[in-house]
Amino acid sequence: MMSTNDQKRPFRAAITGVGHFVPEYRLTNSELEKTVDTTDEWIRTRTGIVERRILKNGATSDLASGAINDLLKKKNMSASEIDLIVVATITPDMFFPSTACVVQEKIGAKNAWGFDLSAACSGFIFSLVTAAQFVENGSYKKVIVVGADKMSAITDYTDRANCILFGDAGAAVLLEPTESDEYGILDHIVRCDGAGGSTLNILGGGSLNPATHETVDRKMHYLYQDGKAVFKVAVVGMADVSYEIMKRNNLTGRDVDWLVPHQANKRIIDATANRMELDSSKVMLNIDRYGNTTAATIPLCLSEYYQNGKLKKGQTLVLSAFGAGYTWGAILVKWAI
Ligand code: UT7
Repeated sequence: MMSTNDQKRPFRAAITGVGHFVPEYRLTNSELEKTVDTTDEWIRTRTGIVERRILKNGATSDLASGAINDLLKKKNMSASEIDLIVVATITPDMFFPSTACVVQEKIGAKNAWGFDLSAACSGFIFSLVTAAQFVENGSYKKVIVVGADKMSAITDYTDRANCILFGDAGAAVLLEPTESDEYGILDHIVRCDGAGGSTLNILGGGSLNPATHETVDRKMHYLYQDGKAVFKVAVVGMADVSYEIMKRNNLTGRDVDWLVPHQANKRIIDATANRMELDSSKVMLNIDRYGNTTAATIPLCLSEYYQNGKLKKGQTLVLSAFGAGYTWGAILVKWAI
């Protein structure tokens, strides 16, 4: 299989481990029916979501650490073996230190350095592409990419348009070098368009609008989304980039075993699968149980499907996402484990 980046890499980066952590508490559609003006039927048909998990105590670093610890246990690996931790998140524990530093300490990865990467719902895609560079150029051998978001921390539970969408989770992958040309990350496309900034954001608390009583009163510390505007762009952007990565690698829907889409809305996922001419049985889905967990959605799918034995060595995957920024992208992967 051809990749456009083949020329320059001594190694390929392959995903060789997965793990995830979801909080126990389930916030169901019927529970939301009691607190905002919505219905289970509306939420299911417009989004595909039935319930989401909420972390009652703790922070994003706990979701990330839980996911990495699950991965380490499954790989029978020690945290001290990790070289680098990349945390994809838009809900860091705090502005600084980075969540990566907090996680490094929590899991005892005493030989690792790390950093956070902010790309909203494309956070895992952007982080995986970034982390893969360190593996492909031979700098590091064991790199963790973890997508973790405590979306409940930035959700206004009186805003019916948004509070039904989001949930909390963490999920991680391990990247290692492989000399095999067949397996691993084969190609990627990543994009951003800052013109989308006004439709999906948190305006308060940063250097532009530092926290004041007014920013709190105006609910500027909560996530704002113009859902309809984002939907229109996401439905085209995610489908386009997923189709493009197939096409430029001379693949059709028949050659792809799994689409691993960001889980924001089942209708966006369906449109992407249609554009790829992919049967719905080849689409990883867990939006019904978790909602949109932002940076965690894609690795959460990978971890669950691998754990259930549905994701198998040698399968061809297209990972794709669209999110705030706007940011979007797709990655072509040959599953290595
Ligand atoms: O992950 C990052 C990127 N984000 C996304 O990809 C999200 C993209 N957007 C979406 O997924 C969808 O736009 C939403 C699920 C957020 C909303 O679905 P929609 O089909 O675009 O609904 P809408 O915003 O056009 O609202 C339709 C109607 C409105 O009522 P009127 O004006 O037609 O009378 C809303 O007020 O549905 C109403 N509505 C609700 N009704 C019941 C909005 N939220 C709710 C609700 N329950 N929770």
